Amino acid sequence: MGIWSLLPIACGTSAGDRQLPPYLDESVSLEERIEDAMKRMTLEEKIAVLHAQSKFSSRGVPRLGIPELWCTDGPHGIRAEGAWDEWRQAGWTNDSCTAFPALTCLTATWNPAMSALYGRSIGEEARYRDKDVLLGPGVNIYRTPLNGRNFEYMGEDPYLASRMVVPYVQEVQKNGVAACVKHFALNNQESSRHTTDVDVDDRALYEIYLPAFRAAVQEGGAWSVMGSYNLYRGEHGCHNRRLLCDILKGEWGFDGAVISDWGGTHNTEQAIANGLDLEFGTWTNGLSSGAKNAYDSYHLAFPYLDLLRRGVVSESDLDDKVRRVLRLNFRTAMNTRKPFGSLNSPEHLMAARQIACEGIVLLKNEGEILPINPSGVKKIAVIGENAVKMMTVGGGSSSLKARYECSPLEGIVKAVGDRVDVIYERGYIGGLSPMSDGVVAGYDLSESRTADELLVDALTAARTADVVLFFGGLNKNSHQDCEDSDRLSLSLPYDQDRLIRELAQVNRNLVVVNISGNAVSMPWIAEVPAVVQGWYLGSEAGYALSDVLFGKVNPSGKLPFTFPVHLEDNGAHATNSYMPGPGVNRYAEGLFVGYRWHEKQGVAPLFAFGHGLSYTTFEISDVRMDRDRLTKSGSLHLTARLTNTGERSGSEVVQLYIGDEKSSLPRPVKELKGFEKVTLNPGEERTVNFIITPDDLKYYDDEKHAWVVEPGRFTAHVGVSSADIRGTVAFYYDA
Ligand code: GLC
Repeated sequence: MGIWSLLPIACGTSAGDRQLPPYLDESVSLEERIEDAMKRMTLEEKIAVLHAQSKFSSRGVPRLGIPELWCTDGPHGIRAEGAWDEWRQAGWTNDSCTAFPALTCLTATWNPAMSALYGRSIGEEARYRDKDVLLGPGVNIYRTPLNGRNFEYMGEDPYLASRMVVPYVQEVQKNGVAACVKHFALNNQESSRHTTDVDVDDRALYEIYLPAFRAAVQEGGAWSVMGSYNLYRGEHGCHNRRLLCDILKGEWGFDGAVISDWGGTHNTEQAIANGLDLEFGTWTNGLSSGAKNAYDSYHLAFPYLDLLRRGVVSESDLDDKVRRVLRLNFRTAMNTRKPFGSLNSPEHLMAARQIACEGIVLLKNEGEILPINPSGVKKIAVIGENAVKMMTVGGGSSSLKARYECSPLEGIVKAVGDRVDVIYERGYIGGLSPMSDGVVAGYDLSESRTADELLVDALTAARTADVVLFFGGLNKNSHQDCEDSDRLSLSLPYDQDRLIRELAQVNRNLVVVNISGNAVSMPWIAEVPAVVQGWYLGSEAGYALSDVLFGKVNPSGKLPFTFPVHLEDNGAHATNSYMPGPGVNRYAEGLFVGYRWHEKQGVAPLFAFGHGLSYTTFEISDVRMDRDRLTKSGSLHLTARLTNTGERSGSEVVQLYIGDEKSSLPRPVKELKGFEKVTLNPGEERTVNFIITPDDLKYYDDEKHAWVVEPGRFTAHVGVSSADIRGTVAFYYDA
């Protein structure tokens, strides 16, 4: 048989018609294409597609014309091109990107339309950079304010995170780029992230920690999921039988590929049998991270091939893995119908600015010091290192090489022009500029003054200003908002509390802007008239902050997590079950996370989940239900009237919480089950509608391993935060 007969049918049965073989023919169903490709692949080719060939890519099947897969971080923008084998950047000059706001900011918009805009924009940038898998979004629940990566996630509430992750995933994937929802699951801290072994009860697992992942898979249709570094019940997340096989692929019917976190694969047999499909970043045989030619030593590489050849393991697991990787490939790299994407477009910058503006949260505004009217002031003192510090750089794998980043100071100066004298003082030293990820931060933060001299200079500037804007908070250095380390306390670092107190002494017109992805303590809160949660806002940070501070935009953000007064007011810390070290990590607070804990214990927060003020005022009235009995197959229609009772248009988020008055198992006082963001002009009113079904009443019974709804009395709470309820209605559920 001549050599030419070995050519795959890709050459067609005859020169004339050049029929495409099924696996290349997009008019053929995806599953048929996969089966056809499988038949043509050798054992070695099947193994080759299951693991990395470089730091961020995995092999295709060159002989069959199946392309390789390229992954990229991260959730907030497309990471600069990396070297083939190393974490360092490749030094390209065409890979700077739009830095979108951190996902805590996106979630703080409480607006799924912003999530869709975000997903579409970042998906276009990934597509233009020719990436097949976007390593994001992250939806690990905010269990402790110390977690270094909370800024990359969607807050403390499973319902809010579920509603906000779905549009992001859907819109990314419309670009022919796979979302890779991470880190599945229970990666709720960075300390000892490779060795902490989470022990959590099934009620908390199913009611709190899994819902956002489930929504991303079942509603968002996520094409890939990233396993987590931590262990759960003794098995690492990247090859955890219960999480990956029983729940993700079994109960949820996930048809995509499970991708390991980089270096998250530790055991060949478990990697084969427990649901891992695509292995990245493994540090094999003690080779240094990123060592060349380590790829053949990956668990799913030669070790796997050897077990197969010796008949120690069957090909059934292998074929399932290959099918999933091919399905991922055919949806992305092999997809010839995908758009071309775009990079650093005006539309993306506009999207970044709009999301940032909508996510900024006005926490306090005593005496309506905000918004500042530029024609009403002559001198503004801008104090604080975070007014100039580049925040798109650092923080770990989400670090970006942004095309540009407008700092808060720049945004303020550009907003007021020469109408107002703006003076800047650093105030404190927060660690030198990060040179993280190969990007040299665009400023020189070297400093010759002592901390006391910095303080004195800041107070001198503040004393003579009409208004003082302090930009502080955290940053992307380790033990701040940063991967691979947690914070060491709830307090602001670098002695900022003292500086803020002294600024408040010399000038009452003080606004504190907290730039962070986490809650911080505010012992000076009574002395400061205005506080804004500023988040990490990306390329357009300065423009968005000045839009809000000067009133061009009316803030409408709402907190996606609780600000406790003290760290021990938080469930994980009150139960002394935040374990920064390696070993078993029992989540003793169970499902009482965030506001659920505060309300169970009756501990008032500093700022509540769902809290956020506006430059106008709103009233909620006439909360009512069409009837007071809900049956198994029925639904209730709850309405509430929202009125803008202030002087300017603005948006409010009407929130629906439901409480089960009596249940066989302990339940939170109430839980978020609906929300709607409404924009109204002054005097305008709108009826907001919620449909309540038995699904909204269920809880997970870990004895029955099932969701249950018990008959009895429930209360619907309608408000503008978990702690600011404006109306309630009782109703009954009859099974
Ligand atoms: C990191 C992170 C993960 C990231 C991956 C690739 O360690 O945990 O979120 O996508 O490695 O950089």
